[in-house]
Amino acid sequence: MDRRQLLKRGTGSLIALAAGSFLPNTSLGMNTPDLSPLDRLRLCCNENPHGPSPLAQAAIKESISSSYRYPRKVGDELKATIAEVNGLTPEHVLLGAGSASILQLMGLWIGQQKKDIVSAEYTFKWLMRYAQQLGSKYIKVPLNKDMYIDLEAMKGKISKNTGLVYVCNPNNPTGTYISAKQAHPFYKEMSNTAPVFVDEAYIEYTADHPTHNTAHLIRNHPNIMVCRTFSKIYGMAGLRIGYLLADPTIIEQLEKIDVGMGISVAYTSLAAAIASLKDQSFLQYSLKENERARNYLQQHLRKWNIPYHDATANFVHCDISKYGKDIKAELEKQNISLNPIQRDEKTYLRISIGSHKEMELFASRMNDFFTK
Ligand SMILES: Cc1ncc(COP(=O)(O)O)c(C=O)c1O
Repeated sequence: MDRRQLLKRGTGSLIALAAGSFLPNTSLGMNTPDLSPLDRLRLCCNENPHGPSPLAQAAIKESISSSYRYPRKVGDELKATIAEVNGLTPEHVLLGAGSASILQLMGLWIGQQKKDIVSAEYTFKWLMRYAQQLGSKYIKVPLNKDMYIDLEAMKGKISKNTGLVYVCNPNNPTGTYISAKQAHPFYKEMSNTAPVFVDEAYIEYTADHPTHNTAHLIRNHPNIMVCRTFSKIYGMAGLRIGYLLADPTIIEQLEKIDVGMGISVAYTSLAAAIASLKDQSFLQYSLKENERARNYLQQHLRKWNIPYHDATANFVHCDISKYGKDIKAELEKQNISLNPIQRDEKTYLRISIGSHKEMELFASRMNDFFTK
């Protein structure tokens, strides 16, 4: 019986787990959920179904016995590792319980200044939502016709009241990505007039990663900040760990309003993150599997005549307006967690890329509906 079956069996089995039957899966692909045809498909949250990496799982197990300590030392070790990977110093790094907590902190920082945020109108809105609660205005800039963020138009919206420019690249929910070559000159130019916050939650999925690293801009352009997460390609969404890279003077200001006091991430999560950064084979495996499953899904979208937008990361954004309001009920009927998005009188789906098996189940369950 594997761990997932044990978990399904309830409390008695959980005690068995605690008593020592917890063995990390140590080879690539072993962790991928083994779904039965009737299981609920969770394609709503852009998670990596293959994670955490074998090395991360082993690190979690090993770090449990040290978890009676507050995690400052292991946090410092992770900061040093992240800094090294990005050519920066540990003083450039702020850790958070998921990048959501970094977005919240940044929202608080801008909100308390009562400054405006310039951002795309159709993007990941958590930072703006938080800052708006505190009195900031969200200056919305439309996407271009191909659903790409329009950096030129954003530049034009910066005013003396702009406290932050928020760019999500690759953009969630559209999946469109502006290459570093194209985006970096804009980041540099905009940062001369306002701080630029680049949310790179999905950057590891892009073709120009890690060569064209936005973090490299920070030394000469201290108004540029980069936010990343271990929730996506690293497959550790449940372990809650993200980070910000920024000039040390900004990090210092944020630390003053961060209730976490630098110890808000669990010891085990920090150990897992350090191990993940060293597990290149897992990263390559995840990239390959994601692309294989995404191609499979896109092939079906084409067969069903469903238009979709350029996709770079672990989700595909498609226009399902022709199915109108019926789609929500159908997804529920087919036991699929996926929320349609209503926007400008159109209906979209942002379908997360699961394992290949999950995409096969999605295609077989939705085929009748999409071909009727
Ligand atoms: C663009 C983007 N930023 C940030 C987050 C927050 O992720 P987490 O808090 O798990 O790091 C998400 C989650 O989906 C996201 O899509």
